[in-house]
Amino acid sequence: MEENSKIPVHVSIIMDGNGRWAKERGKERFYGHVEGVESVRACTEEAIRKGVKYLSLFAFSEENWNRPEDEVRSLMGLMVKAMVNELPTFQKNGIKFIVLGNRSRLDDSLNAEIDECMGLTAGYTNLNLVIFLSYSGRWDILQAAKRLALEAAADPSAAQAVRDMDAGGFSRYLSTGGIPDPDLIIRTSGELRISNYLLWQCAYSEMYFTDTLWPDFKAAEFDAALAEYAKRDRRYGKVK
Ligand code: IPE
Ligand code: IPE
Ligand code: MG
Repeated sequence: MEENSKIPVHVSIIMDGNGRWAKERGKERFYGHVEGVESVRACTEEAIRKGVKYLSLFAFSEENWNRPEDEVRSLMGLMVKAMVNELPTFQKNGIKFIVLGNRSRLDDSLNAEIDECMGLTAGYTNLNLVIFLSYSGRWDILQAAKRLALEAAADPSAAQAVRDMDAGGFSRYLSTGGIPDPDLIIRTSGELRISNYLLWQCAYSEMYFTDTLWPDFKAAEFDAALAEYAKRDRRYGKVK
């Protein structure tokens, strides 16, 4: 097999461990989130260098809204700051920036910033950088099912199409419609769970768990995950 075919098309990361990283240093959790942004930058650059086409990052879950208000506020502030700071880099490096999640829960100024950043980078194709914000896997499946049901109710002639629908057809109703399922899902910080992330899309993803905390996860750690992925034998239920 060619070397290149061992590079995943879509790498997805559950970026976890910012709080513990800060605590280890006797600092506020916020410092972990700040350093976490540096890891985002490092992994984005490395993904481009390696020829990964989609890098998706779990930045804030629906459940994370239950954190203390000041942490939520500072995280949202950090998102805006990072987007404004990184826009020139996105443009220079041909990065298409995409945000997916329950955006009705985000405040207007953040949504406006996201729309602007997505609009200005929509034409780029070098790397698709997908940020999952206010996202959960169950929310995604539920919104898809609701949309489908409402469409079918509004147009009874669509009933047959719904009956005939296969998994690929349903996928198009997910917020990730059009984006290939992740080949590799990385979770940092030693937790061995999916935490309501890409529940449908992870069906055949290779999983990579590392004890490294997200703020320590830079290019070398990203490369180590790709090297591990290259050794995996993906069988999709078949016999090889
Ligand atoms: C990941 O780090 C960032 C988000 C979930 C927003 P955490 O903030 O969960 O850090 P830990 O898990 O408490 O160390
Ligand atoms: C998962 O991390 C969500 C993100 C990385 C955005 P959490 O820290 O929220 O997950 P749990 O609570 O440990 O499962
Ligand atoms: Mg955590």
